[in-house]
Amino acid sequence: MLNELEKIKKEFSDSIKTAKDSQSLEDLRVKFLGRKSELTSVLRSLGTISQEERALVGQKANTLRKEIEARLEEIKHNLNQKTGGEVSIDHTLPGLPLSLGKKHPITKTIQEIVGIFSLLGFQVATGPEIETDYYNFEALNFPPDHPARDEQDSFQIDNGKYLLRTQTSPVQIRVMEKTKPPVRIISPGACYRRDNPDASHSPMFHQMEGLAVDTDIHFTDLKGILGEFIHQMFGKEIKMRFVPSFFPFTEPSAEVAISCIICGGKGCPTCGRSGWLEVLGAGMVHPNVFKKVNYDPKKYTGFAFGMGVERIAMLKYGISDIRLFYQNHLQFLNQF
Ligand code: DAH
Repeated sequence: MLNELEKIKKEFSDSIKTAKDSQSLEDLRVKFLGRKSELTSVLRSLGTISQEERALVGQKANTLRKEIEARLEEIKHNLNQKTGGEVSIDHTLPGLPLSLGKKHPITKTIQEIVGIFSLLGFQVATGPEIETDYYNFEALNFPPDHPARDEQDSFQIDNGKYLLRTQTSPVQIRVMEKTKPPVRIISPGACYRRDNPDASHSPMFHQMEGLAVDTDIHFTDLKGILGEFIHQMFGKEIKMRFVPSFFPFTEPSAEVAISCIICGGKGCPTCGRSGWLEVLGAGMVHPNVFKKVNYDPKKYTGFAFGMGVERIAMLKYGISDIRLFYQNHLQFLNQF
């Protein structure tokens, strides 16, 4: 019987070399450990032999059984690793749900505005958020003591050497300094003013600047471009009106309003019962600005406009408090 065990051991170690997949392993398990295996019949016949022999053969047979089991397990494990878990991974199980992020409504609004102006031939330009007084005010025709500065209370850095830009208009100057006309740019970005936060103010907010300069640009071009933008952004039924206004860097200047998207122009609390919502500032580039960037004001004309991105987003999506954009509550953000 001991010989028989030796023979089984040898046979198993020969056969196991050829096992290459889980099926052949299972066949070997049945052949060497199954009910009809030689090892099982050796164990069954232990009762027929002498007591001393029984202890020895029984012990050897059980050891062999454990060895075979361990070897089969080991090979199965190696095989699984090689095949990427042929047996233990069920490839038909559904995947785990991935939660995809969303664009912030301000990013979404900026991209939408940029998309519209890109189709109208405008390129995106950017500028620094830390500016000098020269670019933020002086080159834009705000002399040092001009009262128009009062509306844009700034955050100063290094005792006034720099400031956080209060508007995106300085990008106009930076672009014109570097480029010869024709110019057609839009410039989205963050701006900063020393305002206390409330439903319509935030010390950090976003603007979208626009500038077009060429030899033959007229106020009608400004109206045409802005009219197209407003129709694409808010809908064809929305009306636009220009109201005379003042900005140091444009002349003439205008405030542009749209018919109230809440009440359709009849008058409601959102539009202060006027039927109109102010959405942006605009005008024809002031000759003094052209002089600062060495453009000949006799040769070139241009228009500029600037809008608050938050204001556009609030009107478009019906948001009543600007602070909601920065609190980043998922309940709010997930709606867009
Ligand atoms: N920068 C102005 C502001 O923050 C907005 C503005 C008005 C920009 C008229 C322009 C413009 O380019 O032409 O109040």
